[in-house]
Amino acid sequence: MEVIWKQRLHECGILAVLTIDRVEDAIPAAEALLRGGIFGIELTLRTTSALDALRTICEKVPEMLVGAGTVITPQQVVEVAQAGADFAVSPGLNIKVLEAAEEADLPFFPGIMSPSDIETALEYGHKLLKYFPAETAGGLSHLEAMATPYKHLGISFIPLGGLNKENCGNYLSHPLISAIGGSWIAPQKLIQSKSWDIIEENAREASLIMKQARSKHAATS
Ligand code: 3PG
Repeated sequence: MEVIWKQRLHECGILAVLTIDRVEDAIPAAEALLRGGIFGIELTLRTTSALDALRTICEKVPEMLVGAGTVITPQQVVEVAQAGADFAVSPGLNIKVLEAAEEADLPFFPGIMSPSDIETALEYGHKLLKYFPAETAGGLSHLEAMATPYKHLGISFIPLGGLNKENCGNYLSHPLISAIGGSWIAPQKLIQSKSWDIIEENAREASLIMKQARSKHAATS
């Protein structure tokens, strides 16, 4: 299952982190991202509208790969699975949440930032992991050093936290990375102000950076 997800996330490349205050903004935000070439989101469960926004995008924007973010309780696992999420992520590693995701048959990528976290995730069968908060934890060099003892097991990462248009290319061209994510493409304020054109432009720019980073990597490897 994780091999398929590694591939799906690699194809998607970038997850736009969305925090949505009004359900009415869910579809326009998702459509602006699609127009700009971003096909994956992490919709955070940090607002009262989050679950309805998630359900709406799952139902009405089928081209979007929809991840639920900030999933930190077993109850939230059940709720996002019922809302139709394709997958879920958490900032940290909570065994009860992992067990609930397995029970709900929901693809789940827990957050890690230490070798101990990686080992716990591996113990529970997880090899596709969110690296959070990537930049303040030490960035790509920290991830490379931390992952070295586990590389032969086929682990792969989704870095989030502090990524932006300046630093995402480095991550995207690295073989340990399946996809990256960040809120800079569609920040909460731009969603609140319904700035769909700016979100579309940010998405287009990010998508171009991804293509350039990956073609550079392909040319040098
Ligand atoms: C997340 O919710 O996954 C992160 O908070 C995204 O981090 P960023 O806002 O630094 O992109």
